[in-house]
Amino acid sequence: MKSIQVFQPEFLLHGADYNYEQWLGYPDILAEDFRLIREAKCNVMNAGIFSWAMLEPAEGEYHFEWLDQLMDSLAENGIRAILATPSGAKPAWMSQVYPEIRLVDEHGRREPHRLRHNHCPTSPIYRQKVKQMNTLLAERYKEHPALLLWHVSNEYGAHGCHCGLCYAAFRKWLQERYGSLDALNHAWWTTFWSHRYTDWSQIEPVDRSVHGLMLDWMRFISDQVIDFYLAEIEPLQEIAPDVPITTNFMQPNVGLDYWKFAQYVDVVSWDSYPRWHSQQEEWPIGLKTAFFHDLHRSYKRQPFLLLESTPSVTNWQGISRPKKPGLHFLSSLQAVAHGSNGVQYFQWRQSRGGQEKFHGAVVGHVSHGHTRIFQEVTAVGRYLAQLGDLVNTCNRAEVAILYDLQNEWALNLAQLPRSEEKHYQERCVAHYQPFWEKGITVDLIDSSTADLSPYKLIVAPMLYMLRDGIEERLGRFVHQGGTLVITYLSGLVDQSDLCFIGDFPLRSLLGLWVEETDVLFTHDVQSLEAVPNNDLGLKGSYPITHFADIIHLDRAQAMAHYGHDYYAGYPAITVNHYGNGRSFYIAARSDRRFLHDFYSSLSHQLRLPQAIQTQLPTGVTAQLRHNDSKQYLFLMNFQPTSQEISLGESDYRDALSAERLRGVLELEGYGLRVLRLDD
Ligand code: GAL
Repeated sequence: MKSIQVFQPEFLLHGADYNYEQWLGYPDILAEDFRLIREAKCNVMNAGIFSWAMLEPAEGEYHFEWLDQLMDSLAENGIRAILATPSGAKPAWMSQVYPEIRLVDEHGRREPHRLRHNHCPTSPIYRQKVKQMNTLLAERYKEHPALLLWHVSNEYGAHGCHCGLCYAAFRKWLQERYGSLDALNHAWWTTFWSHRYTDWSQIEPVDRSVHGLMLDWMRFISDQVIDFYLAEIEPLQEIAPDVPITTNFMQPNVGLDYWKFAQYVDVVSWDSYPRWHSQQEEWPIGLKTAFFHDLHRSYKRQPFLLLESTPSVTNWQGISRPKKPGLHFLSSLQAVAHGSNGVQYFQWRQSRGGQEKFHGAVVGHVSHGHTRIFQEVTAVGRYLAQLGDLVNTCNRAEVAILYDLQNEWALNLAQLPRSEEKHYQERCVAHYQPFWEKGITVDLIDSSTADLSPYKLIVAPMLYMLRDGIEERLGRFVHQGGTLVITYLSGLVDQSDLCFIGDFPLRSLLGLWVEETDVLFTHDVQSLEAVPNNDLGLKGSYPITHFADIIHLDRAQAMAHYGHDYYAGYPAITVNHYGNGRSFYIAARSDRRFLHDFYSSLSHQLRLPQAIQTQLPTGVTAQLRHNDSKQYLFLMNFQPTSQEISLGESDYRDALSAERLRGVLELEGYGLRVLRLDD
């Protein structure tokens, strides 16, 4: 495939999924839409996403007139199109004529025609149909003035089709990976429970007791979806080589290795649906959302796009409250603060029927703009229009958290003495939190694609699986002066999910070995007690829960000991001076206060850059986007009440009004301000 471009839009994007085709029988509504789109300061619309049945109502019978009309109207109104390929939902006639395009479940049952996002990723017929359709779209619109970006399919998922075609492809994938059944049997440790395979055709990915098998099945599905995507984009790239490409990602735990996938898109985009108001406090939701935004920036270490978000409510999360006044603005600009080059919504106009008729939209069933939602969306549009200068600036991090999706899959499969509440993703967020609280930008990285050179500090929580030489790269990183933090449950298995025998590979880097891991019930009491004069100045006692490694030191020094039980006095936090750097080991699950104290001290020692040199109140955070000449400071308040922020000695100006700001700035409840640092 051709080399990937970098998508650098000339403006910050503001728009929505526009299901124009649902309203073809309502010309007044369509006319009004364009007036409202302009009024809401939208400059881009996602078009044609689920429109296959309208584009090709019967096999070989194409109707592009309505899409021509839409594209022309967008262009006439100065609005750009993110034009979708329609493979996210197949038409009924196709499912009927070609049953092989429908998914087969684990029990061998083929899906009836229903829902969406449920095609077989292997089916040659579906691939051919998609190719035909994408060829026609690319030929027709490649030079259309409205076309800005391709939106390939919609939210590819890893549903795992169990049809014969997928199984054959899986077995071929395994043959390429292992070469022989002997190698495969060894990698999957199939002598266990007499699972040895004597013929490739015996392999069926339905046995959760063979962890290597299930892990490889997940890898295969992810690869197969990426392969499907690559086939989808072939005609787009050939026919319209200058039009960049994206596909909308979701939260990371959907079974796709987005780290790999991201290499094949020109710009990463994603759909963010936090459950605002679902907890007593809002800021933990803001925190987790920030982590996800940073993840999407990190996939390519470039600005990304928020391609979908709801302007008000969803209708699939059980309970979804309308965003309280101010929160829409804050949550939208939060994405921009973390590197998004725009804000887009699902959906522009609320459907009249079907499953999503009560999902939030910019224009509701009342069909006019005199609503709170419309006004708040318009306010975002106005603000983005005035922040135009900021486009393509980016956030820069000197600290990275290793958040490895394949590690998460393997860890989820593992049956440990404590399998409850492993919570890999949550723990990565817990280690991210102290940085978020201080306004220190964090990148996320993974084991196989990461370039470690930009970072001073790397944090690797629960790095259960070591693959692709990550342990050597981390070792080199520390040796050359980097600082590493690793926790309990790390370095247990190789990339086939086979346990390491003898010395574990992190032994010399960490200067210790792990004898066993205690797992705690909620009534169990354990603590860590800081050793006087330790490397980070930790003091006193902190509670421990869930997991506690019992370790022995080679060269590492103890910074804290356990306080209870038969391993009281054993080391719980250690540091190992290795080459020019240090590697810390956090042997047990600690609480928020500990992580706060630990990382505050470490950030201070390493002089990690803060977006603003001040102590931020709880629930308030800051991000900096910059290029070589400009710096934009985002201050965000995830508390419902106003908060004061001391601006210190620096000279700031409001990014919009240029008003000079000094001293104390009051951020209203759910408030957000963008400031410029005076040069
Ligand atoms: C997304 C999907 C959209 C819409 C939205 C509702 O996951 O891409 O098409 O269904 O959810 O929140």
